[in-house]
Parts: sequence; C-alpha cells; structure tokens
Amino acid sequence: MCGIVGCICKRDATRVLLRGLARLEYRGYDSAGVAVLSADGEIAVRRRVGKLIHLQDALEREPIGGTTGIGHTRWATHGGVSEQNAHPHLCYEGNLAVIHNGIIENYATLKAELRARGRVFRSETDTEVLAFLIAEARHTHTSLRAAVVAALTHVQGAYALVVIDRREPETLVCARNQSPLVIGLRDGEAYLASDVPALLEYTRDVIFLKDEEVAELGPGHVALFTLAGQPVAPAVTRIQWDLHQAEKSGYAHFMLKEIHEQPRVLTETLLGRIGTGTEPLCTDGGEPLITPARAARLQRVVLVACGTSWHAGLVAAFWFEALAGLPVQVDYASELRYRRAPLGPDTLVVAVSQSGETADTLAAVKEARRRGAHCLAVVNAVGSSLTRETDGVLYTRAGPEIGVASTKAFTTQLAALLLLAASLGRTRGREAERAAALLAALRGIAEPVQRAIAAEPAIQEAAARLAPHNDFLYLGRGVNYPVALEGALKLKEISYIHAEGYPAGEMKHGPIALIDAGFPVVCIATPGAVYEKMLSNLEEVKARRGRIVVVAAQGDTRVGGLADTVLPVPEVPEELSPIVNVVPLQLLAYHIALGRGCDIDQPRNLAKSVTVE
Ligand code: AGP
Repeated sequence: MCGIVGCICKRDATRVLLRGLARLEYRGYDSAGVAVLSADGEIAVRRRVGKLIHLQDALEREPIGGTTGIGHTRWATHGGVSEQNAHPHLCYEGNLAVIHNGIIENYATLKAELRARGRVFRSETDTEVLAFLIAEARHTHTSLRAAVVAALTHVQGAYALVVIDRREPETLVCARNQSPLVIGLRDGEAYLASDVPALLEYTRDVIFLKDEEVAELGPGHVALFTLAGQPVAPAVTRIQWDLHQAEKSGYAHFMLKEIHEQPRVLTETLLGRIGTGTEPLCTDGGEPLITPARAARLQRVVLVACGTSWHAGLVAAFWFEALAGLPVQVDYASELRYRRAPLGPDTLVVAVSQSGETADTLAAVKEARRRGAHCLAVVNAVGSSLTRETDGVLYTRAGPEIGVASTKAFTTQLAALLLLAASLGRTRGREAERAAALLAALRGIAEPVQRAIAAEPAIQEAAARLAPHNDFLYLGRGVNYPVALEGALKLKEISYIHAEGYPAGEMKHGPIALIDAGFPVVCIATPGAVYEKMLSNLEEVKARRGRIVVVAAQGDTRVGGLADTVLPVPEVPEELSPIVNVVPLQLLAYHIALGRGCDIDQPRNLAKSVTVE
C-alpha cells in the first residue's frame, strides 16, 4: 500500500515530507518522490527508485526551497518499478502535480481518450491519467478543487488523491474513495497523510476523510465537501495511539491488521477484473493471460507453490477442474523442481506466491519454462523476481503483508485463482453458467468475510480455552480440506503448537488413534456436498470424547448439538467457502498464540520470504 504525505507549513517542506514518508516506510514500497512549490513559483519534482535514502540524497544534491509540497512512496500496481512510474506525476503543462493510492479501473479507456486529444504520456501509471484529466478540467474551472471534482466524475475505482497547483500556492486538494486519507491541522499549518503515523509529531487531532469526500487545505484550515459539492463539517478524532501502535492502525499486531484488511483488499483484487464476465482476464498491461490459441492446446494445469500459497493451489485445483475441465496437479515447488514431471507446451503452470521471491517456486518455474510450458504467476509483490520468470502476471493487490504468517495474501490468491480458472474455462468454451454464478458470488465476497471477522469475540473466548493444548488435528473435506491444512499451518507457525491437517475421510486410516478425552479436533463443516459426511466424522470424534471445534454456518443447530465450540461463518456457495472459512481459523491461531505470549509477527525460525532452499 503506498504512502502519501502533504503539507502547507511554515518550515522546509522537503524535510517534512521525507520525515512523513519515513514514518510510512513499514508499509512497503519500491520508489519514492516529492513535489514542492519552490520559491520561484514552479513545481520541482524529485523521484527515485528504491529506498528513501536515494530520494534524500537527490534532494541534498539538488535542494528545493518551499513550504508547500506532496510526497509519495509507491507500491507498484499499474506499471513496473521505475523513476518514470514513481509519483508525483506532473500534468502535461507542468502546472500541477498529483500523487495517488488505489486503482483506477477505467484508466485504459481514459488514457486512450486523452491520447486521442493529443496528450503524450511518460509513464505506465493510472495516476498520470488523473493528472492529465485534472489539468484539462482546470481550463474550464476557476479553482483546483472544482477541477479535481470535475475530473473525478470520469473516474471509476479506488483512490486517495492529492494535488498541488502552482497557481494556488497555498492550497492542497485531496479526495478519497476506498483508500485512506487523514488530515492534521495546527496553528497556520496543514498536514495530510495516508496513515496516522506521519501526522503524530504535529498533532493528535486528525480528520479522517470519508469515501467520496474532497478537502481543500490552506495554512491552518480545511474545507470539506462531498463530491456533489455539499459542505461537510470536519469530524476531529483524538489519536491515543503511540507511533508504534499507529503503524498497525491501532491493532496489536500486523497479522491482526492484515486479517481485518481482507474485505478491503479482496475488493481491490477484484476491481476491474469481473466486468461482464465475458472478456478474457488480462494482465495489468492489458494482455490476455491465456489466449484462445494457447488454451486450445492445453492438456493439463500444474499449480506450483510453497506453504500457504500451496494451500491456495489445492483449493484452486477444484476450480480449474470444474470450470476449465482439465486435469490438475498441485505440486510443492521443492518437489516439482527435482521431479521429471511431464511439462511442455501443452501444460499451463501457475506459480502462486505472495513474495514472488521464494527460491523453490522460482526454480520450479524456470525448469517448467525451459521445457516449454506456459507459465503464469499469481503474485502479490509487484516487480518481484517471479514476475520476470513467467509469461504473464495476475497481481493479488493485497498490499504489503508484513506479518510472517500469511493471511490476506491467501484469500486474495484464492480470489485471483478463481478469476483465472473461470477465464480459462470461458476461453475453452466451458461451464459459462457455473463460472458466471461463482463470479457473481465472488463479487460480493467482502461482506461475508467481514461478517466472519465480526465473530472474533467468540473466537477469542474459544482460543482462551484451547490455548493450553499442545496437539491439534484439523479436518476438512473437498474444497475445505486445504482450509484444514491452512488452519493447522497458521496455528503451528505462530503458536509453535503441533497441529496437522488431514482429509476427514482419512480419519479411520490412522489419525483417529490420536483422539482421546479432550483432544482438540478442529473441523470445517459448512453446507455442501460433504456436509453429512463431516457430521459423521464429528460423531466419531465425539464417541471418543474428543474436544470438537467446528467452523459452521451461523445458526446450524445440527453441528451445534455435536460441537463443544462453534466458530460461526456466513453461508456462501460451497465452492467459495474456503475464502470465508479460513477467517475464523486465522483468528483462532492468532488468539491462541497471543494467549501463549508468542511473537506473532516475527515467529521464531521463520522468514517472511524463503529466498534460499
Ligand atoms: C505462510 O503463513 C508462511 N509464511 C509460508 O508458508 C509462505 O506461505 C511460504 O513460504 C510461501 O511464501 P510465498 O507465498 O511468498 O511464495
């Protein structure tokens, strides 16, 4: 998630901007830049790829004097990692500069229209399109705020947008839709940022912009409006957090923050990708991920990954089989890279990775490509190594995942993989109706995920009862068997408790020997084709006096009669249920680990990205 800062102050804007961006570094970024209204009335811009120190060096070599400015750390979404793509972006006249967080869904259409009017672009970003739109609108509107509002009437998508205009040197205009912006005022100065940590040294009294609001900041004052032009009375919030807490938006750990971010980031993953459900799924550059000619040649799909990403692949196998009608194998990358598996031009290899830097996954993909397979990546980190080793990339847009235990990356991987499976099925002329029904349900998945998160208090109570146990068995069937594996991995990763996931149908083939009085068994028994079978498994555990924890549909009395603890989830179509059912298991692992005093964001022995074998 990018970092945004802005100021109209009585001090050196460059220093204020750099300090603010440094407060937002934890969010992850790949380039940074500032634009300052200099003393000669021009807008001076400095941008650098890499860490803030490179931008700081550039500003020391070429200082900019001024007290009004904006700054940005970019986590690339549209367009690769380069100085040209770094923010701020100047408009074609150089009169105004723009920084932006979010995703403009219709930027390609807008860019084509602007090009048709003779505009020449220098970057691959959707943000430059915004700068050009505002510049055009400024010709027919007397104020920057009016021009920003006019430009936004053409825009679809998520944005936190900040603009400076050299014709209004003591004005900052910002607007928000789905991407956070917060304002702080003090005597004769105004500050803004994408997150509270950048403001705390100036004020604890802040104003959070709401969706579809626009703000006009001046020295020590702000005027708020709706996009429709209605004045809005600013609501001031007193921040009680210290800086450390503020980096986690008040959550105790990044992992908990990232669990709670899932509804928002799932919405961003889907932005501009479901449409009418007929067009092919494309890369962010607009290239089809799988052409009809390629799809016609495919004989098999191989999903390759490690850890949590491998669990996402196991779920996706159900969707590729059902919607694309192809045989699917899901391989651990560490195994596939050394196996003489039949990979060739008739194979679609899909590598799944949050970091895009996992050594085994990279090696497996390189080997598959060497043998002629068509390789795609479902990845979160833009510009990561994996994106350069594959024929096409589908970004999960989860934003930086700081907690070592993967949560929002997993659910956004599932959403992206379902989009890909449905697109491949469409391209192969199969299962159009079933795919359309699933995509319709996927479009609204943020709401049931939010409701699953809202059950956290009950999950917290269950965790307090379960925390003393040192062995857990997780059971699931069908599309929720991988969710059992993922729930077990979450628990073992951050609480160091031994936990294993198993297909529930395998219980009689060994694991049932583990069960005695009080042995905790976590089951997923939500409605679907295997629901009755899962109830039978619950009976078997109960007969041996095991302690039964069940992820079940809210209000399910049959499960309630068997379980010691129910972790309730909203009911969704069975095929989509892993995206919702994993949430209580993430929260259960978190609260058990918390109860055991474990280091949740940095568990012992683990790295966020395993870049070595
Ligand atoms: C998951 O919680 C772990 N952090 C780990 O299993 C992780 O999923 C695995 O190392 C793969 O990482 P990647 O998705 O970045 O490739």
